Amino acid sequence: MALLEGRNLRKTYRLSRRNTLQALCGVDVSIEPGEIVAIMGPSGSGKSTLMHILGLLHAPDSNHGPRPELSFNGRDMVALGEGERTRIRAREMGFVFQDFNLVPTLTAVENVMLACDYAGVGGHKARQAALEALGLVGLSERADHRPAELSGGEQQRVAIARALVNRPSLVLADEPTGNLDSARSEEVLGLLRRLNREHGQTFVLVTHDPEVGQACDRIVHMRDGRIRDGRSGAAAAATQGTRLLR
Ligand SMILES: Nc1ncnc2c1ncn2[C@@H]1O[C@H](COP(=O)(O)OP(=O)(O)O)[C@@H](O)[C@H]1O
Ligand SMILES: [Mg+2]
Repeated sequence: MALLEGRNLRKTYRLSRRNTLQALCGVDVSIEPGEIVAIMGPSGSGKSTLMHILGLLHAPDSNHGPRPELSFNGRDMVALGEGERTRIRAREMGFVFQDFNLVPTLTAVENVMLACDYAGVGGHKARQAALEALGLVGLSERADHRPAELSGGEQQRVAIARALVNRPSLVLADEPTGNLDSARSEEVLGLLRRLNREHGQTFVLVTHDPEVGQACDRIVHMRDGRIRDGRSGAAAAATQGTRLLR
């Protein structure tokens, strides 16, 4: 069974009273448990919009077309109320936002602890987990710094730590290495791969970096609000093969 399965995912943004923009034009996507999937495509092709829908941050459009479907762990996400969606997002998913979304008044460790709080974990346990997650991304010594006192790359790693802290089964990351130099980028990728191997965590990453794409099990190409290629079973099986060899 797929971990995450979407059908007929559409999103139209209203730009003004008369103008709308169809950012997602009916996308079908299926993510298997334990996969690391890259989503690639030109700027404006709908990658972030798709990630926000897969991460339950936005609901797909349900008017003008076939009924959208989204299931996570076999559960229907479209029918859920906002409260339940928030609960699942907090406990079972981790999200790295393209622009980090760190709270400027909180330190790195407090920003990470916020994700624990949302998942119902507080106090000493949350602080320990947050420090551990910062350690994973090599930021132990920056735990008490506020975002403004951190470089772009360090802020990005705080955002990654926050996504990982609750050990979610699914991590959705929008350009998680976009602000990192190639050495850091490789380090973060290595970390994700290790977590994938050791804990079976599933990752969906938006990336512009072909090297990051290559390091993933599979690449989903987007263009103009659609997924470009329908890969054959044989091609998918070949990818599985290289994955096992890695
Ligand atoms: N909140 C929004 N309001 C209006 N238009 C938006 C909004 N978010 C995204 N768009 C538009 O939707 C299209 C897809 O955007 P996005 O999903 O961010 O693409 P990508 O992440 O691939 O760059 C773009 O044309 C973008 O300008
Ligand atoms: Mg984007």
